Parts: sequence; C-alpha cells; structure tokens
Amino acid sequence: MTARTGARKRDPNPFPANFAWGVATSAFQLEGSPHADWATWDSVLQAHPDVTNHYALYREDLKLLKELGVNAYRFSLEWSRIQPREDTWDEDAIARYQEIVDILLGYGIEPMATLHHFTHPRWFLERYPWHRDACRGKYLRFVEAMATKIRGVRSWITFNEPYVILLGGYLEGCMPPGLRDPKRSLQALRNIFICHGKAYDIIHAKVPHARVSVAHNMSVFSPWKRWNPLDRLLTRTAKHFYNTSIIDAFRTGTFVIKFPYSRPVEIEVPIKGKLDFFGVNYYTRIHLRFNPFRKMGVELRHLDIEGTGLTNVGWEVHPRGLAKVLRSASRLGVPLIITENGIATHDTERKTAYLKNHVDVIEQCLRDGLDVQGYYYWTLIDNYEWLQGLDSRFGLYQVDFETLARTPTQAAAYYAYLIENRSRL
Ligand code: GAL
Repeated sequence: MTARTGARKRDPNPFPANFAWGVATSAFQLEGSPHADWATWDSVLQAHPDVTNHYALYREDLKLLKELGVNAYRFSLEWSRIQPREDTWDEDAIARYQEIVDILLGYGIEPMATLHHFTHPRWFLERYPWHRDACRGKYLRFVEAMATKIRGVRSWITFNEPYVILLGGYLEGCMPPGLRDPKRSLQALRNIFICHGKAYDIIHAKVPHARVSVAHNMSVFSPWKRWNPLDRLLTRTAKHFYNTSIIDAFRTGTFVIKFPYSRPVEIEVPIKGKLDFFGVNYYTRIHLRFNPFRKMGVELRHLDIEGTGLTNVGWEVHPRGLAKVLRSASRLGVPLIITENGIATHDTERKTAYLKNHVDVIEQCLRDGLDVQGYYYWTLIDNYEWLQGLDSRFGLYQVDFETLARTPTQAAAYYAYLIENRSRL
C-alpha cells in the first residue's frame, strides 16, 4: 500500500482509470408502481402515481446519462412490477429492465442493479414480511430469477440501507410494514442478512465475475454538548449500532448490538466475507442529545455548524464526514464505492459546491491510500423522496411535476466537467 500511496501522493490526478463516475436512482422513486406497498402508503402518490413517468420516458432519461458523461449507473429492479402477484412474473416488465441494461451497455455505462430499495410487492408484505422466516424463499426466488434473466449486469446490491428498513419499518413505524416492535425488528434483521448471504451465493453462481454488496447508510454522529456524558454515551451507542455493527458482522458473522446499561444482543448470520465491495451511502452528520422526554431518551438534531444552512430535508452539509466513514469502512478490507451522496436543494450553486466538496474529499482519501473505486451522485432527476414527497430536489436535472419537463441544473454541467477532468477514460 505504501508504494501505491506514495505514487498517488505525487500524482496530480489520483483517481484510478477504472474509477466509476456514476449517478444513482431507484425505480419506485422515479416511476412508482401500482403493485407496491408504498403506492397506498403515502397520499402524495395518489395525485402523482407515476411520479416522473420514467416508466415511459426511460429512453430520454438514459440519454441524460450520456450527456453527463458518466461511466456507471445504479438503478433498481422494482420487484412489485416484476412479480405483481405471488408466483406471477411480468415478462414485459423484465424485458423493459433488460432494455435499460442494453441501452446502458451500448452507451459504455456499467450498470449496477439494486434488488431491494425499500419497496415490496403488496402480496409479499402482507403474507411474508421480513420478520417471518417464509420471506426468505420468496426474496431468493426473485434474486435467482433476476440473476438468471437479466443479462449484462456484473454489480449487484442485494439491499439498499437494510438498517433504514429496520428503523423505519420496525421501530419508528414510518415505513411499511409500519411496526414499532423491537423483537420483530431483530427477527427481520436476521432474515434480511440471511437473505443477503444466500443472495450473494446465488448471484455468484449465475453471473460470471459478479460483484455483490449492500448499500449501507453511514452517518457521522456527534454529541450535542461535548461536556455532557449522556450525550457522549448516546453518540457512542449510535456510532456502534449504525456504522460499526454491520462492518463487524461482515467480518465475523455476528451482529453485536449494544444498548447502554444492558447486555449486548448477539445475532449469528452467515455473511462473513460475503462482500466484493462495500457500498456506502453518505449524506450528513447527526447530533445526539439525551432527552428524558423522548423515546429511549434520544433526540436527534441537525445543526448548521458550517453556517451553510440545512438542506431541503433538514440535513447538515458535512463533506469531511465522508472521509471519516470511508476510513472506518476500510476495516472491511474490500474496495469502497460511494453508492449515494447528494443534496436536496433548489439552489443549484449550492448543489454544485456540494458535489465539488465531496469529490475533493474522495480525492484526498485516494491520496491517503484508501481503495475507493466509485462515486454515484444521488440523483439523476428530481424524484419522489419517501416521507418528504416531491419537493426535496436532489436531482442534477430539475423536474416540473406538472409538465414532467426535465431541465439541467448548473450542477449537471459541473458534474460533466468534473468527470471529463478527473477521469482517465
Ligand atoms: C437514501 C435512500 C434514497 C434517497 C436518499 C435521499 O437513504 O437510499 O432512496 O431517498 O436517501 O434521502
């Protein structure tokens, strides 16, 4: 590593030749789905069930990728469109996703497919939710079908942000299945990671040279008041749970979940070493405060410490945090790929600065010898942002949700310029 680090330090451009310059999307956020659990979960979708109508406009949207000059694209295969009913496969939906892959390959863009990005077919969630062991067979049949039928995809994400599914779906109840049930959340965690381990093997058996990972949401955690021992204790607990426990589980095969003043919970899962790279979704820093009037005594806050203002979804912008989470993920000893990073803002100059500042941090990480192999900006065009609806504005291209027109922001031109300057294509 030292020789390579030395070489990169002197190199005016430390980005390796095969670095993936990409953007990331998810199908449901662009095109909705009448068969998905979320379609009836959120009233915003009743007025805009097709969201940006990417389902019909995908060919035009994929041209935007060419305009940007990216060499990589992360998208998801919407399970509820592919299996609208249990044991029914929609071959037209599959053919359309295959066409997306073929268009990408024709443009020289490497596809990365996400198999689960928060949404489910309604029948799955009603009959086989993640806390029931029967979920495994259903999810794995879907994985096997995709790995067999979709040709030309080497990079796969089995689950986007598994912890968000658990926190949102099983503890806060703000996402389907809408439970607040710690016991079931642990059963669901076990099933999701058993599924990851098995999906890893299935994809490798079907796809030559496959690269498989999860996309894990990592954040920086800090105490609200550094002098307050309870704020510091909460911060340590959150850091361990959110950032560290998953890394350790991929290293050892055991999840260890620690809560203050109680015995750790240990869950065995067959995932040791089942990663070819590690997908990191990074957005922000979170401050934690002990507050006895809040659930479990935890209050989360985003503070505008750098004075640039919080984003449209209320998050702090903290580029240096990206280096911290990458350093901590590097303990896994596999290549790192930033599978999501982006800002929700109407201010296009701010979007440009966000992009620049985060790519600068990656550049420094490469000079420091970290094995970072890709960056996917979130996201291509404005979309449906889960609990925040339609006006968060993460897109490089702005969408008018009435006319569905796509208009480039200044950040799109900047990203194209950045890719041209930093890549060695
Ligand atoms: C991630 C999620 C994406 C997107 C993004 C911005 O957590 O994977 O679907 O919503 O956040 O909030």
